[in-house]
Amino acid sequence: MEVKELINKLYKEHRLDRQEWTQVLSDFTEEDRIYAAGLAREVADSIYGKDIYIRGIVEFSNICKQNCYYCGLRCGNSKLERYRLTEQQILECCDSGYEYGFRTFVLQSGEDPYYTTETICSIVKCLKERHPDCAVTLSLGEKTYEEYKAYREAGADRYLLRHETANEEHYGKLHPAEMSWKNRMECLDNLKKLGYQTGCGVMIGSPEQTVECLVDDMLYMQDFEPEMIGLGPFLPHSDTPFRDKPKGSYEMTLYMISLCRLMLPTVLLPATTALGTIRPNGREQGVLAGANVIMPNLSPVQVRDKYMLYDNKICTGDTSSECRGCIERRMKSIGYKVVITRGDHI
Ligand code: SAM
Ligand code: SF4
Ligand code: FES
Repeated sequence: MEVKELINKLYKEHRLDRQEWTQVLSDFTEEDRIYAAGLAREVADSIYGKDIYIRGIVEFSNICKQNCYYCGLRCGNSKLERYRLTEQQILECCDSGYEYGFRTFVLQSGEDPYYTTETICSIVKCLKERHPDCAVTLSLGEKTYEEYKAYREAGADRYLLRHETANEEHYGKLHPAEMSWKNRMECLDNLKKLGYQTGCGVMIGSPEQTVECLVDDMLYMQDFEPEMIGLGPFLPHSDTPFRDKPKGSYEMTLYMISLCRLMLPTVLLPATTALGTIRPNGREQGVLAGANVIMPNLSPVQVRDKYMLYDNKICTGDTSSECRGCIERRMKSIGYKVVITRGDHI
């Protein structure tokens, strides 16, 4: 079969086998990519219409005990100035976010043991008390089943934990030996079991990523059925071991977004900050390729340039209100509208 026919099959049946995925991901032309984007947008429009969901992300600590080779927050990066927000500061960011129309707050950080289970639960509870009509998403990395359970009981609705790669050998090339692919995958299973709307995802074009790795990712996600998928290009950071590695492909990222939309029609799919960093209109193009979520920054401006996962990250000099207005305009320019809602998975 030709790639176009396989894209049609994915559109109708939402599944491909290993051999078909390999062909779709290796033999495609620019025309196929644009064709997939058109179909993916049609599917997204049929489910979410012209609505774009926004999530306010509070990057509350850049301290991390892990040492992922790709990330600027890795503990081995001694050049980075570290910060932590207090519980009060985090709540204030969300309060102002509420005024700007955010009804989902994403709390993200490095893996920072300073925030105990009790602290995280207390923040989640306070947020839910202050804003009962809002969803809380956590993205704190790998935790135990008991910790995830406690956060869930405190009221957390969603959890983002990119699997980074569904290929164990590839995982070993992105992370030091102390980090375990099996544990990360188990964390995702636990999150699902606990009833979180669960998000996985990968960086497109991470070092040593092959077509086979991407095929493994699609096969994994096809079975796991995440409610959310985070996809962005890998972008190098100058103070990491991957400083000289080439960035991921913008087009491949858009193509993967479209394929994920066709595979899991109702999935919540953000046009990521990394996509907006690699191209000035990357997020708009992400939406036009099938994404339906954008996650503008709600962190205080003073700390924004310290949450540097990769070089040249956008929005580090902008205020929350500027980002909010910016997204509204950008979406309007392509015929979409930002809506004030929790924006749960259907
Ligand atoms: N520490 C938590 C974790 O790892 O799940 C949450 C924060 S972590 C910074 C969020 C995501 O950033 C990671 O899952 C990874 O995919 C992405 N990321 C890190 N470094 C990156 C880079 N150099 N380029 C693109 N994305 C990157
Ligand atoms: Fe830490 Fe997450 Fe960065 Fe890995 S990706 S170094 S766990 S912040
Ligand atoms: Fe932050 Fe555009 S979204 S300035």
